[in-house]
Amino acid sequence: MKQPVRVTVTGAAGQIGYALLFRIASGAMLGEDQPVILQLLDITPAMDALEGVKMELDDCAFPLLAGVVCTDDPDVGFKDSDYALLVGARPRGPGMERKDLLEANAAIFSVQGKAIDQNASKDIKVLVVGNPANTNALITQRNAPSIPKENFTAMMRLDHNRAKSQLATKTGKAVTDVKNMIVWGNHSATQYPDLSNTTVAGTPALDLVEQDWYENDYIPTVAQRGAAIIKARGASSAASAANAAIDHVRSWALGTTDGDYVSMGVYSDGSYGIEEGLIYSFPCTCENGEWTIVQGLSVSEFSQGRMKATEAELTEERDGVAHLLP
Ligand code: NAD
Ligand code: LMR
Repeated sequence: MKQPVRVTVTGAAGQIGYALLFRIASGAMLGEDQPVILQLLDITPAMDALEGVKMELDDCAFPLLAGVVCTDDPDVGFKDSDYALLVGARPRGPGMERKDLLEANAAIFSVQGKAIDQNASKDIKVLVVGNPANTNALITQRNAPSIPKENFTAMMRLDHNRAKSQLATKTGKAVTDVKNMIVWGNHSATQYPDLSNTTVAGTPALDLVEQDWYENDYIPTVAQRGAAIIKARGASSAASAANAAIDHVRSWALGTTDGDYVSMGVYSDGSYGIEEGLIYSFPCTCENGEWTIVQGLSVSEFSQGRMKATEAELTEERDGVAHLLP
């Protein structure tokens, strides 16, 4: 049996936390041979609820669960942590855009970035889920200068999974038939689900759908899916977000298969002309615990316009939190 790894989850008493922790403890995220110690961080008023979640985790008698720590102290929560899923943040309500949360949430990530810098393993892999996820990931990364920049990522996998599911439904095929999906940019309404390189059962996706449906139905449906769920449920997506977090970390830690792409918000190295340093979603493949941006894809004029628009929103968000970026 492998040695246990330490997995920090923030906002662990919240609704995504409740859909996430049991799957991490079951081995769905890091493999069924990898024991985990869960380090659960939330705010002081949530400690009773968090204790209740711990009781339920205990009651599952998960063979891979080697310990559970509940805390409201970031220094304890990130101590020696190997993986961190930063979920703890306020969700948006109806009529809000995710960037409207910047003011409420950004400070959380500067505090947690510093705590990661001082306490966590230097190899820690960080996934930011709390919105606005890309800019919060940037704040976290910039406040943790002793950890490699590549170790901070933002969750775009929910958008990626939504994009696959909508295309599979439209074409009457299985989601497993959809390959090389890409969602570029920001986890926001400006994101660009790009079918230029996608195939469905081996056929180029753009040969299977009308351009009008692609531009005026598909792209807005995927980009606005979070808002549609808030309208329908009265609360933001939780189980599908937790599932996407599991998928993201699993791909990163255990690798992607057959060259298929995953969309990850990662540190831009200037690929595809995107400003260096932004946390921008690119098509990636993963191997040996490292992500690599897929290179050499041709970019049409239409794609270029969309990719630049979502980049512009990220630079604007970044400039709005300059005071939190050392
Ligand atoms: P929730 O309100 O149910 O839970 C949030 C939890 O975070 C609460 O338990 C709260 O006490 C805790 N929290 C607040 N401040 C904290 C801090 N400083 N440290 C630790 N914990 C803290 O919300 P939720 O539905 O679980 O959503 C959490 C976040 O995830 C929201 O920002 C939401 O918008 C975002 N989200 C992102 C995606 C994505 O695709 N990136 C998808 C869904 C939701
Ligand atoms: C989502 O995409 O479902 C989440 O980011 C929640 C939201 O605010 O849309």
